[in-house]
Amino acid sequence: MARKGGEPLVCLTAYTTPVARLVDAHCDVVLVGDSVGMVLHGLPSTLGVTMDMMAMHGKAVRRGVEKALLVVDLPFGAYEASPEQAFANASRLMAETGCAAVKLEGGEPMAETIRFLTRRGIPVMAHIGLTPQAVNAFGGYKVQGRGEAATAIERDAVAVAEAGAFAVVLEKVTEGLARRITETISVPTIGIGASPACDGQILVVDDMLGMFADFRPKFVKRYAELGQTAEEAIAAYAQDVRARRFPAQEHVFADTPAASRKVPTR
Ligand code: KIV
Repeated sequence: MARKGGEPLVCLTAYTTPVARLVDAHCDVVLVGDSVGMVLHGLPSTLGVTMDMMAMHGKAVRRGVEKALLVVDLPFGAYEASPEQAFANASRLMAETGCAAVKLEGGEPMAETIRFLTRRGIPVMAHIGLTPQAVNAFGGYKVQGRGEAATAIERDAVAVAEAGAFAVVLEKVTEGLARRITETISVPTIGIGASPACDGQILVVDDMLGMFADFRPKFVKRYAELGQTAEEAIAAYAQDVRARRFPAQEHVFADTPAASRKVPTR
């Protein structure tokens, strides 16, 4: 809340301990997103992500996070049935992973659940606009909120903020809509494909590092091409092994340890 309208909040996803360590050094928020299903597990969408996957990756990320706020996603099917179901699964994620908050997708229809969770001590980050768990209902990963559809998304933002969400992720919405929502609600907006008008930004870490190449949304800026670098390194290793250039002498263990070998004297 203190950062609303101030220096933009820096947020990234992480799914493993080593990446969490890298991200934690530079970010305000680390999100264990259900994007893990597509990015690390090769799933076609986030719909197949389970509570067990979120708990396992949440625990791994927790070990790498010292200062950032750790948020873990509630996966599809883990919170929509009732506020009680959401509480059972959110409290499990908090207890098992040590995260400080959970994120869930949905606007007005989820407001009651958000109120239920926040009144019982579970901080909630809301996620509206393009909500990937509803990809089948949307008919694809399309820009949301153009024309008359904007009114519904503004209502969603107000509803989740009034229900107690401490921040609202706005995904793939137009700049004008993102600005109006950011000016209207009292909690920070975190944009992903939602323009600089938001109070903060989030990206999927593998997207911005160039590690996930299945598709590249327009809103992703590639800060590195690690996938290409890794591919070149693996190809070089394969060539070296086939040509017997690897292992070289420096990678080989001698029959006697170096310390006990006679040092030649002049
Ligand atoms: O699952 C995820 O990684 C997300 C962010 C991209 C907002 O929800």
